[in-house]
Amino acid sequence: MSSKVSVKKLIAEIELLEAEATKGISEASDQGELEKLRISFLGKKGRLSSILGGMSNLQGEERPMIGQRANLLKNQFQALLSERVKLLKEEELKKLLAKEKIDVTTPSISIPIGNRHPLISTTEEIVDLFSGLGYRVAEGPEIENDYYNFTALNIPEDHPARDMQDTFYLEDQFLLRTHTSPVQIRYLEKNTPPVRIVSPGRVYRRDAVDATHSPVFHQIEVLAIDQGLDFSHLRGTVMAFLKEFFGDLPVRFRASYFPFTEPSAEVDVKWRGRWLEVMGCGMVDPAVIEGLGLDSQSWSGFAAGLGVERFCMVRHGIDDIRRLYTSDIRFLEQF
Ligand code: DAH
Repeated sequence: MSSKVSVKKLIAEIELLEAEATKGISEASDQGELEKLRISFLGKKGRLSSILGGMSNLQGEERPMIGQRANLLKNQFQALLSERVKLLKEEELKKLLAKEKIDVTTPSISIPIGNRHPLISTTEEIVDLFSGLGYRVAEGPEIENDYYNFTALNIPEDHPARDMQDTFYLEDQFLLRTHTSPVQIRYLEKNTPPVRIVSPGRVYRRDAVDATHSPVFHQIEVLAIDQGLDFSHLRGTVMAFLKEFFGDLPVRFRASYFPFTEPSAEVDVKWRGRWLEVMGCGMVDPAVIEGLGLDSQSWSGFAAGLGVERFCMVRHGIDDIRRLYTSDIRFLEQF
């Protein structure tokens, strides 16, 4: 009779185990928890093992019956476990996908990249236009001497033109160049005509800072020496260049004076209802050509000097030259 009790007890235990396992497995929230359940139910020292151990007291036909149920339970466990594992994995994946989902409408993180300074891009644009006309880029030093900055350009010692350009003098005849014109001389000393050069660079004058003046500014020098060049070549080149740069702004030539050109002109463009001077130019003075040891009967040429700041300000509608030097990032970012 004792075996009857045992069978009942075992059946009760099996049913309890089944209920607990079903509940436990369905509530487990991660794989670690499931593994613990598996060990406690199915492990060597687990509850199913102890139930099977209890079978030794059983009578002949009771044994296979309990054995069968225990086996069934074991299979049921395994099925439940693997189903739950699968479900948890899927949930985990879903969570991960939700977390890592790429929202293509999210505004991108902007990576700051530097801009070209408007003075640099203006210089490059002008130089490129002249390069397109066959001009080569030539540069000269910012620390010049009296000879290249003045004398060789037909501006002798006591010439009033020296007052036109208040100069920063250094020691021993050295000075900060007041214009890019000395590059004409330096280039022609080393190169024989025909030449066509464009020469950008920084220049210096003792000017007080205001909306249109700065003691440091930028010029671009243009020089062409060849046989048979005359004023029509100068005018044609300047007009073509200005049209490329400014589009259809009206242009006028005004007679002017520079010691190194004869005749000389200043060029204005009409901007916002006013004539604005943008460059000086002229036919290279024969005295300058002769000074270089060249025959002014065979060689003639034209030259021009323009202020980059003016071109830049007109192009971008900038009203105060100081904006170009104060490095205000909010201003510079606009270009
Ligand atoms: N060097 C002159 C200045 O700075 C500008 C200039 C005028 C340059 C006439 C030239 C020229 O080459 O032909 O004011």
